[in-house]
Amino acid sequence: MANFKGADILSTKTLSKGEILRIMEVANDMLPFARKEKRSNLLEGKILASLFFEPSTRTRLSFETAMNRLGGKVITISGSEGTSMVKGETIEDTAKMVEQYADVIAIRHGQMGAPAIMADNADIPVLSGGDGAGEHPTQGLLDLFTILHEKGRFDAMKITIVGDLKHGRTVHSLSYLLSNYDVELNYVSPKALALPEKVTKFLDERGANYKEMESLEEGLEGADILYMTRVQKERFEDPEEGKRLQDTYVLNREMIERINPNVVVMHPLPRVNEISTDVDDLPTAAYFRQAGNGVAVRMALLALVLGKA
Ligand code: CP
Repeated sequence: MANFKGADILSTKTLSKGEILRIMEVANDMLPFARKEKRSNLLEGKILASLFFEPSTRTRLSFETAMNRLGGKVITISGSEGTSMVKGETIEDTAKMVEQYADVIAIRHGQMGAPAIMADNADIPVLSGGDGAGEHPTQGLLDLFTILHEKGRFDAMKITIVGDLKHGRTVHSLSYLLSNYDVELNYVSPKALALPEKVTKFLDERGANYKEMESLEEGLEGADILYMTRVQKERFEDPEEGKRLQDTYVLNREMIERINPNVVVMHPLPRVNEISTDVDDLPTAAYFRQAGNGVAVRMALLALVLGKA
């Protein structure tokens, strides 16, 4: 993928340290445009097809903002209703159609592997915005960018990831990225929501330093980063099981001040109950800054795959 032009971004598993660094550097360069301090027409004449077949606030809007602020244009689908998929059109045929209209695709789909099918059938770059309980590579990259900006480094850190590790696609993509660095990873979840074998196998193959545990307080102790996630009720076969597990972990200000006042708190959002709103005012509550970083990282990815960075 060395120069990224024409590349698909479907997983973080295959990104090398050099490629990750390149994305971080370009995202850093994009910050003044993402923060509305400077204007750019870098992507003038290019069209992004923003195809979101599952609900999204941040990923869709930040992809579209990134394209608009770099002078490009956006065509969008939000939900499969209103598309010919409800008449039975396949992902394969949809891909062959969209490549006629756009220069790059961002896609979110509930079916694991759907962005890869789109990429196999479209002759333009495809960026995954999340596939079921699979991966969310652009979120993983913006999470890494946020860690770099909050702590100034990736290495020599203790990072604790909490919540629905089984269905949490952001957790999977971030874990694959972090396996490139010298970090201590703690995974906190109820047993029923532990990391899937596909992720632990990858971490084992990489020789990653990680532990699995059930206590949030144990994971919070001494952590540099605490990455909270919500229980993804919509992915449970039994909705009652999702409801039962939803409030397993609730982080509040008292816990942080008592156990680890310096910890940087992240969350891919949306949150439900897992971070109390009394945490929001702490200077180390980074989750809204993290969502803001999505624009710069997606600007970088669009520019790179379109051969403009
Ligand atoms: N973090 C994230 O993927 O948020 P959305 O579901 O709102 O896009």
